[in-house]
Amino acid sequence: MSTGKHLIAPSILAADFANLQRDIEMINESEADWFHIDIMDGVFVPNISFGFPVLEAIQKHAKKPLDVHLMIENPDRYLKQCKDSGAEVISVHYEACVHLHRTISAIKDLGCKASVALNPHTPTSVLNEVIEDLDMVLIMSVNPGFGGQSFIPRTYAKIQELRNMTLNRNDSLVIQVDGGVGVNNASELIQEGADVLVAGNAIFSAEDPAALIHDLKKINPPVHLI
Ligand code: DX5
Ligand code: ZN
Repeated sequence: MSTGKHLIAPSILAADFANLQRDIEMINESEADWFHIDIMDGVFVPNISFGFPVLEAIQKHAKKPLDVHLMIENPDRYLKQCKDSGAEVISVHYEACVHLHRTISAIKDLGCKASVALNPHTPTSVLNEVIEDLDMVLIMSVNPGFGGQSFIPRTYAKIQELRNMTLNRNDSLVIQVDGGVGVNNASELIQEGADVLVAGNAIFSAEDPAALIHDLKKINPPVHLI
């Protein structure tokens, strides 16, 4: 089980791009901890979101760390640009990296926190040889590419498996969950060991997004008496 207080990372993908500064200010003023920023290339995932000019624009206004989720093939090509555009945490997909260890080292050499994302079909065991090298693992709880999809329940067991893998090997590893997260499953996710909850649709489709962030932030894992 996760011991620290969990973090909330609103996903900018679900923001109103025509009112991006307004939505960034809302996150600045809210209890959210990070900005989660999804960059897609239309090749690794069947969608294109936005690129580095938008990331730079977000950086100018954001007062909280930028957590960049690269859903792109061969992400090594863009790591430096990502850092220069303001990223503090960079997630690359296991499925998109032929030389994963090299990619993780390159992220850390830039001074960023290194994270690997796993698609729903990818088992946690693929990280066995690099688990000590990672700052974070991003567990996709939907197939990447789109916001507003349904949460895949197998994620709970997967978080637990990853938490077990980190024991005595990387106790400070941060586990992030991304996709279909909301007030209905946040408590269970925290109980299984999630440290960072990404939420897009749940926050931005709420009548009061800041209040929804507050609700996600104050959630505690369920107490089991027996
Ligand atoms: C999906 C992205 C997510 C997405 C989550 O590929 O990685 O970050 O924005 O959106 P919701 O919370 O709506 O599932
Ligand atoms: Zn994401």
